[in-house]
Amino acid sequence: MSSIALSLPFAGCGISNSRKNELLKSDTDLSTVKNVFDLEKLSGEVMGKDALNYLNGGADDLRTVRANYDAYGKIQIRARRLIDVTTVSTKIELFGKTLDNPIILSPVGFQAFFHSDGEIGTAKAAEKKDHQMIVSSVSNFAIEDIASESKADLWFQLYPSTDREVTKLLLAKAEAAGCKICFLTVDTPVVGNRETHGTTLLEMIKSGELEMGNFKDILPEGMSFTDPSMTWDMVDWLRANTKMKIVLKGIVTSEDARMAKERGVDGIVVSNHGGRQLESNRATIDCLPEIVNEINGEFPVLIDGGIRRGTDVFKALALGATAVCIGRPFCWGLGALGQPGVELTLEILKAELIRDMQLAGTTSIDKITREFVTTK
Ligand code: FNR
Repeated sequence: MSSIALSLPFAGCGISNSRKNELLKSDTDLSTVKNVFDLEKLSGEVMGKDALNYLNGGADDLRTVRANYDAYGKIQIRARRLIDVTTVSTKIELFGKTLDNPIILSPVGFQAFFHSDGEIGTAKAAEKKDHQMIVSSVSNFAIEDIASESKADLWFQLYPSTDREVTKLLLAKAEAAGCKICFLTVDTPVVGNRETHGTTLLEMIKSGELEMGNFKDILPEGMSFTDPSMTWDMVDWLRANTKMKIVLKGIVTSEDARMAKERGVDGIVVSNHGGRQLESNRATIDCLPEIVNEINGEFPVLIDGGIRRGTDVFKALALGATAVCIGRPFCWGLGALGQPGVELTLEILKAELIRDMQLAGTTSIDKITREFVTTK
């Protein structure tokens, strides 16, 4: 790489010079990485087509995958001027914890398919960069190993199996690993129609090349890790069987937000599983206002799906989200570079958010209110 090329890669991405130098010492040519899409391209080259298709795939014709992202393009920011934005704080309070920033890592299964660092690499990156991570039930590494290797303070995502004894064992593992919050995924009574996924991942699991770390030894052969018979009673069952706070992931209507409130959950995530479940779900950012309106500040409302830029984070917060979660972007970083790639993804998004907050005239997250956005 020429010295000119060396000065270009991070132009405008807000990362410190010492950090740029540190990353540029690695073998990979990072001269093209300016944003998370550049990491997506790089990850495709490094981890190959099968893994990228699994990661980027969705239900049917990927309309909801695209809608999640496209919808952010229809929202404009109403920036304010002549405000001292020298110092910006991205801190938030969430579920009794102070977070450095509102960008959380969504639960994503099978991360060792993207890079051998897998969930342990992601957790180390999250810990190092001060982001909250949610570990999937179907992680390749077991939750206890992710917790002990990384020392990250993890939250846990639950897929309940039809056998509640299996679910109890899973909850006990998550609690023993120190998890304080349980995200019950409610959009997966069955797995969506994913035509682009291919069979490589399944074959690797069958052959033992990849493991489902949490279910090893507890899920009887042939039993599914999802339960199509699950109803709202599951919230009561969970409360009786775990000390963790209960958050429902996958709410997309005000009706279900009200039901969640009536059941006394601790929070919800507005999510359509990144467009991987029901095709033609609305974009999550389009679902957010009616849900925020229904919950009216009673508990946190998180959102994920299609968030790729600091401006997307800003827009979601302005429309009432307490925090946002990202799925594919950190996996692009993981697939491209392993743990350092996840770190880079998080650095890019946080740097973008801070700059966008400054450009819009906001110095803290609570100042990003509804007046800062308009929808066409
Ligand atoms: C997911 N998602 C997911 N959700 C969940 O509750 N449990 C899981 O195990 C997984 N696994 C998973 C694998 C892959 C490859 C993807 C892309 C997604 C959904 C995830 O938590 C989140 O809702 C979406 O990824 C958010 O959308 P974006 O940020 O990927 O657009």
